[in-house]
Amino acid sequence: MKIAVIQGPNLNMLGIREQHIYGPMSLDQIHEQMKGSASQNGVELEFFQSNLEGEIVDRIQECLGTVDGILINPAAFSHTSIAIKDALSAINLPTVEVHISNIYKREEYRQKSITAGSSTGVISGFGPFGYHMGLIALTQIVSEVKAVESQKQAESAE
Ligand code: DQA
Repeated sequence: MKIAVIQGPNLNMLGIREQHIYGPMSLDQIHEQMKGSASQNGVELEFFQSNLEGEIVDRIQECLGTVDGILINPAAFSHTSIAIKDALSAINLPTVEVHISNIYKREEYRQKSITAGSSTGVISGFGPFGYHMGLIALTQIVSEVKAVESQKQAESAE
């Protein structure tokens, strides 16, 4: 199983930016931990971070036919980007949106995620551990999707 991990703007600054909100871990450290738990479950991760909306749209489009699911933190673009929402809807893969902070407890402009409407589910407020939770949820969802697909194939072959 292959999962794309897509990180939005300023997440490359984790460990430096607003540690009282996002904690002390860097993005590389978070990714290293995720790799550890993913490999134990036979999951391959492809990491991507960009500060540019169009690059994130391109990366999402590339996911079609190349990965089984997407774990995404669109960061500030969650609150603004119809383009990222549309890209997720277009490829229609199992997707979990993760926020390190609890966006519902923060400024009003962060309390709505536009992109979340194109995700299977959202995890918000559990710090970097949210990425692990998201990975567990996504692995489960992708396994279920694969099981349904192979069931259908078996039925059509009968
Ligand atoms: C964030 C929350 C966003 O509001 C913010 O712009 C981020 C990070 C989070 O992970 O908590 O950059 O997505």
